[in-house]
Amino acid sequence: MSPTVSSPQTRKLAPVDLAAERAFLGSALPEAVLRVLDSGRFVLGPEVEALERAFAERCRCRAAFGVASGTDALVLGLLALGVKPGDRVLTSPFTFFATAEAIAWIGAMPCFADVEEHSGLLDVEKVEAALDDSIRCLLPVHLYGQMADMRALRALADEHGFSLLEDGAQAHGAERDGIATGELGDACTFSFYPTKNLGAAGEGGLVVTRDQAVADRLAGLRDHGSRTKYRHDFIGTNSRLHALQAAVLNVKLPHLDAWNDARRANAARYDEGLGDLESIRPMAALPGATHVYHQYTIRVLGEGRRDRLQEALAAEGIHAAVHYPIPLHLQPAAEAFGYREGDLPVAERLAGEVLCLPVHPFLTEEDVERIVDAIRRLA
Ligand SMILES: Cc1ncc(COP(=O)(O)O)c(C=O)c1O
Repeated sequence: MSPTVSSPQTRKLAPVDLAAERAFLGSALPEAVLRVLDSGRFVLGPEVEALERAFAERCRCRAAFGVASGTDALVLGLLALGVKPGDRVLTSPFTFFATAEAIAWIGAMPCFADVEEHSGLLDVEKVEAALDDSIRCLLPVHLYGQMADMRALRALADEHGFSLLEDGAQAHGAERDGIATGELGDACTFSFYPTKNLGAAGEGGLVVTRDQAVADRLAGLRDHGSRTKYRHDFIGTNSRLHALQAAVLNVKLPHLDAWNDARRANAARYDEGLGDLESIRPMAALPGATHVYHQYTIRVLGEGRRDRLQEALAAEGIHAAVHYPIPLHLQPAAEAFGYREGDLPVAERLAGEVLCLPVHPFLTEEDVERIVDAIRRLA
């Protein structure tokens, strides 16, 4: 990928480089936007349908529905699976807040199982231990671009009879053991927030499903409960993906696999350059996983050391981010969920240790070398 032009040692290195992406795509983006403007088809229509077809195919699913955001995708996904006010939904405490927020937004109750220290993904044994008859749905998160253990979670869902919604907001194009996102869940949601591996020029989201009944509900839920004009079968909302955003996404989608390859190449360079450091543990890429590295994350061991390293890198123009500094069960907004410090120790520890390094596809080899050298000096 061609980098933005500036001297390699002074160039600011950030989690995303949207200017480089814009330059790489050239006239294709404005042409697509103009096509939509000239067509006058702004709400759903052919661009949205083309994106939905492509996503359904990639996820080996029956149908896909473009919606207003990744958060709405979760809200509508939960409703489409029949989650009701008062139901308990088991999810990860180590994710972006929207995952639990969507559950609470529809009046259901989020509950949490702890995550694996080496991957940050839901720990299947802890999930099993946390299960009881009140759990209505399980909501695993494909954190940082790596899928949760969907085979094991599907088996648990079948055994206990609850539904399975995947949060794939960070995992466009990921697979695990040959299974695609959405292939084993009852539905899988995506976000097209601009910093995602596939990002819109604004907000956007999408839900895929293998299940015809779930598809029928999603079609209505995002469009006022209506599948036939002016006939409203149930209460829905207005959460339709905008055609302009779909057009932008359709320009980018053919590049997604190459961009994910470039992320993996950057990740391999980091693994090699940092693997021997005492105080640094790269988060694991699991056997059988096709990791798409929405984030490349290291753990920085030692009290306060992560924050000091983050500051020292920033002073050299390297912006590393913390996803996430507070686990969901300890968020001020989560008080009503009934958890206390110490309840989910692995997520709590990771929140103090993780640091996400720039890994986007427009970094050069020299950029990654510069970051590796800086960490080796400063960690
Ligand atoms: C894991 C996860 N879930 C849900 C969301 C919410 O997506 P959006 O920002 O598109 O509403 C995000 C995005 O930030 C996310 O990372």
